[in-house]
Amino acid sequence: MFKSSLLALCFTFSVAPLLSSAALFPKDSKVKLLDAKGFSKAMKTNHTSLGAFMAPWCGHCQRLVPEYSKVATALHPMIPVYAVDCDVEANKRLCAEQGVKGFPTIKLFPRGSELGSMMYDGERAAGAIFKWTSLRIPNTVEKLSKPDDIKTWSKKNIKANRALLITSDTKIPILWKVLSNNFKGKLSLGVHRDQDGSSLKAFGLDSGSSKVLIYPSGSTKSIPYSGKTKMEPLSKFFSSIIDGTVELNIEETEGSNGGGSSVKETSHFPSKDEL
Ligand SMILES: *[C@@H]1O[C@H](CO)[C@@H](O)[C@H](O)[C@H]1NC(C)=O
Repeated sequence: MFKSSLLALCFTFSVAPLLSSAALFPKDSKVKLLDAKGFSKAMKTNHTSLGAFMAPWCGHCQRLVPEYSKVATALHPMIPVYAVDCDVEANKRLCAEQGVKGFPTIKLFPRGSELGSMMYDGERAAGAIFKWTSLRIPNTVEKLSKPDDIKTWSKKNIKANRALLITSDTKIPILWKVLSNNFKGKLSLGVHRDQDGSSLKAFGLDSGSSKVLIYPSGSTKSIPYSGKTKMEPLSKFFSSIIDGTVELNIEETEGSNGGGSSVKETSHFPSKDEL
């Protein structure tokens, strides 16, 4: 018998009262229930996601539900959090392919099906699952410690469209890691820790919050992004840079701090008021 609540699992030979997976997660939960088809589609995006393979009758799964829902809320909308009901006949093959031997089985898919998966074997508490996930998001964010590193970075990779995050955070924010992963090969991301706001001042920006600067392909000059530093607006904006629906204009203007610049919007460019 399993005494440890940490690794206790339900096994397929348990007696299964008729419970549906729909009953597991409340309607407002950010956990998305997937069938085998939906799962396969999700894996094709190459995005980081989390999946729990469950059975509705399993007590350990039922206890995981509120914790897992908290994780989903905390990671939303950066990292999709999925659940698969392995009790459903049509999902049984998927669950077997995923190496599910007991319920619940929590797995991280760092880049969809591209990089394989990792099995979670820690405490089934929201904080622990969240932390484990946040440390395993593949990314190519370059850490630029000194202001001089920013100059070097902006020159080194001049052909690419680049985005720099200036933040007081000591760690690379999850948002930035996820964006780096989602836009891999299309946009280069850097992060600079600005402890006292002096770097923002040097860029002629107000201190107080994180700022994103865009370095258009071919330029060592930057344009401040004026939208919200959130997943959806940033994803839209990055996509519009890549597909060319937003024009990035760098202009030299007298009297301004190192050249004024502007963004000509042709699509959903978030307005300044939203900051
Ligand atoms: C996911 O990664 C594979 C392998 O690197 C690649 O062929 C595919 O185009 C990627 N899919 C997306 C949607 O980027």
